Amino acid sequence: MSILRSRIVGIGSYLPDHIMTNEELAKNINTTDAWIVERTGIRERRIAAPSELTSDLATAAAKQALISAKLTEKDIELIILATSTPDNTFPSTATRVQAKLGMTKGVAFDLQAVCSGFIFALSVADNFIKSGQIKTALVIGAESFSRILDWNDRSTCVLFGDGAGAVILKAEYGSGNIQDNGILSTNIHSDGRYYNLLRVDGGPSSTQTVGYIRMEGRRVFRYATINLVKVAYEILKINNLTIADLDWIIPHQANKRIIEETARKLRIPLDKMIMTIDRYANTSAASVPITFTEAINDGRIKIGQLILLEAMGGGFTWGATLIRL
Ligand code: ACO
Repeated sequence: MSILRSRIVGIGSYLPDHIMTNEELAKNINTTDAWIVERTGIRERRIAAPSELTSDLATAAAKQALISAKLTEKDIELIILATSTPDNTFPSTATRVQAKLGMTKGVAFDLQAVCSGFIFALSVADNFIKSGQIKTALVIGAESFSRILDWNDRSTCVLFGDGAGAVILKAEYGSGNIQDNGILSTNIHSDGRYYNLLRVDGGPSSTQTVGYIRMEGRRVFRYATINLVKVAYEILKINNLTIADLDWIIPHQANKRIIEETARKLRIPLDKMIMTIDRYANTSAASVPITFTEAINDGRIKIGQLILLEAMGGGFTWGATLIRL
């Protein structure tokens, strides 16, 4: 049987130049490098320049992805931008990226699922491709979380950073089995009962302010490991695979301890979990594509390997994508 698959043909990322170390943070708030490293694994994060908007980070990552795919903006029919830190309330940041890339055709829109946003966006783009509606899609995760941090709240401001990552998907016919290259399966969930555990305390319809991140860290931590383990097993079962079949897992980079706990519960060696949290902290929707890009560019992930991407974020939202590169 021949079926349409979304093949990953390009990848790219962008990190702002400014590196903010834990030591720098400790000059302004009551924290230490030792506390942050021990509790989170984070050593430093990137902070966007005042003139850099989420659309700029996203456009820079998208341009890298186009170069790596050997395509131009004229080839792209769909842009989905996962972000919780849009340039403006409207129009969508995706339409700004569309214009910044010089695209005058196609369709662009934002998708909001906080840290799971990139996984959700991949799922939506994959369905556009599998239904035959489009042939080429640009999927981006981009965030400037530094703009929604309460820099006096040490329990949240040490955790996040800014950045963007992007992939280009192209329709390709496959045999329909798990040896195909491309997105093999997507699995996404949400449960709004947990709205209050991780949220921004502002917004146009509630307070008419932008607001700051508020989080019940311990409870988020507990649900993160539960959901990340559950969704990994679910997607493997749907595809008649086991953990041993995976070459790599690219987890959302929220906390090194969450990643270690997930690896332990999944009984997978920790060196199969790719991490960038030490250098970039939690970049929300951008963390998975940034980490994916880095591991492909440094040669760890190779063509033909089986990779599980997974994330969990505010909402709660969570999900996984199974890819054979
Ligand atoms: N420096 C020093 N001490 C601190 C800091 C800090 N930066 N932050 C908190 N503390 C203190 C607390 O005040 C508390 O002190 P107390 O015992 O005197 O009250 C103590 O450290 C322990 O605090 P906990 O919150 O219990 O620490 P915990 O070990 O749970 O670590 C953390 C906190 C890192 C936030 C952890 O709970 C976590 O990672 N949670 C999940 C976060 C996450 O996954 N977010 C992802 C979603 S992101 C998204 O969707 C946008």
